[in-house]
Amino acid sequence: MQGIFISMEGPDGSGKSTQITLLKDYLEGLGYETLVTREPGGTVISEHIRTIILNKEYTEMGYMTEALLYAAARAQLVTEVIAPALKAGKAIISDRFIDSSAVYQGMARGLGVDNVYQINSFATQGIMPDITFHLDLPAKVGLARAKGRAALDRMELESTAFHERVAQGYRDLAALDRNRIHTIDATASIEEIHARIVQLMDQYFKSKQD
Ligand code: ADP
Ligand code: TYD
Repeated sequence: MQGIFISMEGPDGSGKSTQITLLKDYLEGLGYETLVTREPGGTVISEHIRTIILNKEYTEMGYMTEALLYAAARAQLVTEVIAPALKAGKAIISDRFIDSSAVYQGMARGLGVDNVYQINSFATQGIMPDITFHLDLPAKVGLARAKGRAALDRMELESTAFHERVAQGYRDLAALDRNRIHTIDATASIEEIHARIVQLMDQYFKSKQD
């Protein structure tokens, strides 16, 4: 089997982890050895970087530092996990990847999408997801869901305006690359969203056969 790299994107609390669990079962049913990972994180080093980035005490963190730390965590994840798994023909589902940096750092922080992709193409050695699901949700709905889950981290404690820029940023980014990034209404039920993801995956597999 050929490796496949899938990323799940969307605002905080949009239902990414929930959908990843369902998608993993689906891919395993198709016979894929499936690996789930998350960003920032997914390796010992990247998880350490995550605790620095998301520490809510670090209010002085500069946007450039933040962008580079996300890229550093990603570089380690690509080298240690994603590149070898793809080579071994596995399916990898990542809870967030490069588009999170494009939207949060490039758009919502204002560093510029091109600058952020440039830093990241170095970090990822040019590896990009084959297919990306964008769970589209009003910022407030996602934050209310995230609040119900655990204590808020440094990013989740950002202003409502910041999270609204994130939600809109994802819509704008998806519009630039409709072949790869599929926007799904994340206010729908868990089952409805999963059914749409399965439909899009089937379309993707079919397009690869043609
Ligand atoms: P994320 O990984 O994007 O932060 P989660 O999957 O952890 O999101 O979901 C955040 C919260 O919202 C969880 O409590 C989850 O059970 C709930 N949730 C997930 N999908 C839906 C949905 N479609 N409708 C309502 N609640 C949902
Ligand atoms: P995550 O734990 O996936 O948050 P959630 O489950 O709430 O969606 O991600 C941690 C935070 O880091 C989240 O607020 C998004 C942010 N983030 C960036 O700003 N840039 C990035 O490149 C990544 C991967 C995440």
